[in-house]
Amino acid sequence: MARTCILGTGIATGEHLVKNEQLAKMMDTSDEWIRERSGVEQRYYVETGTATSDLGVRAAKAALEDAGVTKDEIDYVVFATMTPDYYFPGCGGLLQHKLGLRTIPSLDIRQQCTGFLYGLQVSDALLQAGQARTLLLVGAEVHSGFMPWTSWDYLFGRGGEPPSAAERAWITRFRDRTVLFGDAGGALVLRLQEGDRGVLGFKLYSDGESFRDLYVPSVGFAQRPYVTPEDLGSGRHIPEMNGRSVFKMAVTRMPEAIRELCKEKGISVSEIDLLVAHQANLRINEAVQKALGLPDEKVFNNIQRYGNTTAATIPIALHEARKAGRVKPGTLVAFAGLGSGFHWGAALLRA
Ligand code: ACO
Repeated sequence: MARTCILGTGIATGEHLVKNEQLAKMMDTSDEWIRERSGVEQRYYVETGTATSDLGVRAAKAALEDAGVTKDEIDYVVFATMTPDYYFPGCGGLLQHKLGLRTIPSLDIRQQCTGFLYGLQVSDALLQAGQARTLLLVGAEVHSGFMPWTSWDYLFGRGGEPPSAAERAWITRFRDRTVLFGDAGGALVLRLQEGDRGVLGFKLYSDGESFRDLYVPSVGFAQRPYVTPEDLGSGRHIPEMNGRSVFKMAVTRMPEAIRELCKEKGISVSEIDLLVAHQANLRINEAVQKALGLPDEKVFNNIQRYGNTTAATIPIALHEARKAGRVKPGTLVAFAGLGSGFHWGAALLRA
């Protein structure tokens, strides 16, 4: 039987490394608070002018090189992001052009933190259906557009003015969210290969009832016009989040989905060799690990160095785990994620 296999992986980050201490120059926060509550120690932000599609292109080039595949062999693009360069069109077509791919189909996925898992499921289905032979799956985000400050030069330590007291108070209003996110991209080259190795299956779910627990209230066609000066003035273009509710959902839904998928596949949870979960908060992932009874050596986390990069977290973590020798032929990898929507789920891969 043929299964979807990973031929190569690649990653890219924003140009500027920003440590927690630097964020404390902009708002009332501290390295201690951010580390204790989320595990994040640093994140990357892009230089002005770098967009999500650019990070996607950089990650894709690295993945193609890793796979030993030429760009002309790619015959389908699936691009997951919640921070597209433009309201429309999506990033898939922009990447097709910037990377110089043939005029192949390019699809956008917008399932936020579960975007990569949904993208992987769709990619697997396209490959299995014979609609694609060599597929490029990308997850990339530039979250810095959500950030409520203008003094980027000051943040990056290259001059500029510190925020005024009023600006600092404004920025501090959003501190529970802004400190968590970073800009980065990850990409996979996928192809069907005969044998037992490859993607084994998925359990994905959606429940829109509590969408307001994590959403962007404005910049949407539920209102007319879809964005107003008042929206920008009151910060309605910045995600609103009920952190406690998201946390609770994540620590219950992710282990649940993994257990269900393992059961369906006749695999015991203890057979999982490596858990690569969405990186939203290290405390969430520690709780998921505990719920599944997995030892530390079976879990890969890197939120400490990147923050939450939404659709990019899983491909980046998978890439780093591969390069660290933690994903060998035959390794059973479990993926899990939960995010805005709510959407959540799990996937299993026999590497
Ligand atoms: N620095 C310092 N203090 C802060 C900060 C900060 N950055 N942010 C909040 N605080 C303060 C709060 O104001 C509050 O102060 P108070 O007690 O005086 O009122 C205190 O810290 C505690 O705040 P809580 O919100 O209760 O903190 P909590 O322990 O819940 O942690 C967090 C907040 C980290 C956001 C947590 O709830 C969480 O991780 N939730 C899940 C987030 C998540 O997974 N999001 C997914 C987003 S990705 C996507 O799908 C787009």
